[in-house]
Amino acid sequence: MQGLTAELIRGMWYVAMPGRDLKPGKLAAKTLLKEPVLLGRKADGSVFALRDVCPHRGIPLRYGRMVEDTVECCYHGWRFDAGGTCVEIPSLREGQQVELGKIRCGAYSCVERHGLVWVFMPRASETPAEAGFPAPPAIPDFEDRSAPRFHVMLPFACSTDHAAFGLMDPTHAAYVHTSWWFKSQARKLRPKEKVFEPSDLGWRMVRHPLPPQNTIYRRLFGEGVTTEIAYMLPGLRFESIRGSKNRAMGLTAITPVDEQTTEVHQFFWASHGWIPVLKPLIEHLMRVFLDQDRTVAVRQREGLIHEPTLMLINDADTQARWWMRVKRAFLDAQAKGEGFENPVRPMTLRWRS
Ligand code: FES
Ligand SMILES: [Fe+2]
Repeated sequence: MQGLTAELIRGMWYVAMPGRDLKPGKLAAKTLLKEPVLLGRKADGSVFALRDVCPHRGIPLRYGRMVEDTVECCYHGWRFDAGGTCVEIPSLREGQQVELGKIRCGAYSCVERHGLVWVFMPRASETPAEAGFPAPPAIPDFEDRSAPRFHVMLPFACSTDHAAFGLMDPTHAAYVHTSWWFKSQARKLRPKEKVFEPSDLGWRMVRHPLPPQNTIYRRLFGEGVTTEIAYMLPGLRFESIRGSKNRAMGLTAITPVDEQTTEVHQFFWASHGWIPVLKPLIEHLMRVFLDQDRTVAVRQREGLIHEPTLMLINDADTQARWWMRVKRAFLDAQAKGEGFENPVRPMTLRWRS
């Protein structure tokens, strides 16, 4: 956690992009955990992910195009199906035998769930089921087919560890998120006390009523508004809000590009009947908010280059400690082929924010 890089967690599902941005017949190239991944959508709506390198001469397949549910390489027109198998070599003439089925560019397990495109990044060639994660995590309170209403993504010039610390850092908001619409009385710190318990691959801040100053929330969600925040590997933060009128779910997903660069996605699902014209405004505000975190990461990097010894203090940084412990326990268990044992114990944390 000290430095510019973080160990990457393999054998898990990662959020690659929102499904709404992957149109039928189109391709989208990403770097996930240092690997070139090409995402596409077939005519029937299903998504797929290929290794973005043509096995003929190595040019990325993203420079090609979709032709009848296959990806055609831009160089010599070889075509690959959604499973990564070559199905056509245009230059072949009669009598020139090539076993197309043996030519493969490589493919990843890829599914669309809750409007997100998830890609499984294996350790070797194991399937998601063999890794113990047959499907990506569900979004509680919302159906599999429900798409997020809002999404923003910003690339962060920091490792997944520092991006994760930012997600679970309860005391930076008063100094970093100082927009008038979020924290108008930024420096008025209040004492906080929250109950935490271990949960699936991480921990959660136990469901509790929202503090009385959140009047906007009460307007939107009705009476008895409660919230629960859960954190889980490989870098997901679920924030569930429930009230008498409406429910919402926020997901922050950190997806490593490599050991020192991270894509941070922010999604929102909501049961409200939103007015569509507000969408650009809301996504703008989300981007402003996320950009405040991104700016901190850029500045932090200027210091991390000098390899300082960093500190984690109680109780404000206890969750950052948990992140490192949970991650270590998971990676050790994975390496030994054993079951993961969650090292987090139920605890009440206290801080000012
Ligand atoms: S390099 Fe892709 S078809 Fe030749
Ligand atoms: Fe933040």
